[in-house]
Amino acid sequence: MATGSRTFRNLIGGEWLDAAGGETFESVSPATGERIGTFPKSTAEDVDRAVAAARDAYASWRLVPAPRRGEILFRFGSLVREAKEELAQLMTREMGKVLPEAGGDVQEAIDMSFYMAGEGRRLFGQTTPSELPDKFNMSVRMPIGVVGVITPWNFPIAIPSWKIVPALVCGNTVVFKPANDTPLLGQRFVELLAEAGVPPGVVNVVHGFGREVGDRIVRHPEVPVVTLTGSRETGVAVLRAAADNLKHVHLELGGKNAIIVMDDADLDLAVDGILWSAFGTSGQRCTAASRVIVHERVYDELQSRLVAAAERMRIGPGWEPDTDVGPVINRSALEKIHSYTEIGRDEGARLLTGGEIATGDGLERGFYYRPTIFGDVEPTMRIAQEEIFGPTTALIRVRDADEAIRVANGIRYGLSSSIFTRDVNLAFRAMRDLEAGITYVNAGTIGAEVHLPFGGTKDTGNGHREAGQAALDVFTEWKSIYVDYSGRLQRAQIDTAGEVR
Ligand code: UN1
Repeated sequence: MATGSRTFRNLIGGEWLDAAGGETFESVSPATGERIGTFPKSTAEDVDRAVAAARDAYASWRLVPAPRRGEILFRFGSLVREAKEELAQLMTREMGKVLPEAGGDVQEAIDMSFYMAGEGRRLFGQTTPSELPDKFNMSVRMPIGVVGVITPWNFPIAIPSWKIVPALVCGNTVVFKPANDTPLLGQRFVELLAEAGVPPGVVNVVHGFGREVGDRIVRHPEVPVVTLTGSRETGVAVLRAAADNLKHVHLELGGKNAIIVMDDADLDLAVDGILWSAFGTSGQRCTAASRVIVHERVYDELQSRLVAAAERMRIGPGWEPDTDVGPVINRSALEKIHSYTEIGRDEGARLLTGGEIATGDGLERGFYYRPTIFGDVEPTMRIAQEEIFGPTTALIRVRDADEAIRVANGIRYGLSSSIFTRDVNLAFRAMRDLEAGITYVNAGTIGAEVHLPFGGTKDTGNGHREAGQAALDVFTEWKSIYVDYSGRLQRAQIDTAGEVR
């Protein structure tokens, strides 16, 4: 599966094309520095071509019966399932996550495809009575047009599926910019869509960087919907850039997710949940647990168990069967993560373990960071407020449940949250009071399933959700339809003859 010497192309209107400007960039493995492939470094011109192709294709795709569109997505789901091992192997090389997690990423796309394929036979609207006789009312979901899809590298197969698959079943066409750190996975994703029978022009891929490709997608007047998963800063820039065209913008941004551990919690379970949520995917999930809020009665015990367990975690390339923690995505991520270690130290937090770049055994060829735990963290410290997006978590001591919930909510983000407790009353209070789009009880902060809404409150987004039925609201607009079969002019709100008073 050596692809390093291959040059890949954009897919525009069913044709594989180099960037108009002829420039390229390379995808490199964060695990070893090995080259994964060469990709077109596209510009606005390429985006414009892709949008034109997607516009053309929209004219017929929107009229394909939704169950037929769904059948193509069923085929796509099956093809992804057949390719699961290949895609997981590729992901562990191009993105770095450990093999079982890479399989999970692919599985999310399989699940989403089958779920949304079924939507082809639902896409439910409403029928309602009319206030007038001989009149029929209903609402239907309508596709919107060309959807601009901008995805991150951390879930390089799953997140494109959350956006592209529902967009397609609803009858939209797509211009897709995969993350420039994981272009080959984006490429494989669209190859499989084409193989499943998605017609030319319905999904177009334009490789490159946010500055050129992303920016043009966001500003293009013929792209009425933009969906982005990325940082808060990028989200704000996208919203601003999209404002003049009043685009629909769906944003899935940062998190600073907390796990609360109460004094009645099953501590073994809590330790497992924290390790999985803080260090799984090397902490590079929007849902990662980068804060652990612990009741003072169990703080010392939990801290020592956590530190011991974190120190047992093995660091290495994701394809090695005994690796627990793979690399982080690139050098600048490694540097950012390490800078937060310095920030935490300077702020007076206690570095309990980790806090350094991992080397030895060839690790210096990639970007590896030791699982890092800070203790005695104050809720207002930067390491307890800002998204680090790496294997770093902060332990915060609290006196009771009220303080725990207050601290959990004391951040700008609101994606995921969790509480470990055996007290059912407290669990229900937490479900109500934690300001987040997702709350887990007796489980960590990661592991959302595709058929429930995914997204967050506050600065995590702008009120939309992806996945589940909620995704359909991003990719359709409601149309209300009134059919008057009375044969005469009936004026709503005015012709009230026969009204019961
Ligand atoms: C993300 O980190 O952007 O719930 C998505 C989870 C995964 C998705 C994470 N199913 O952790």
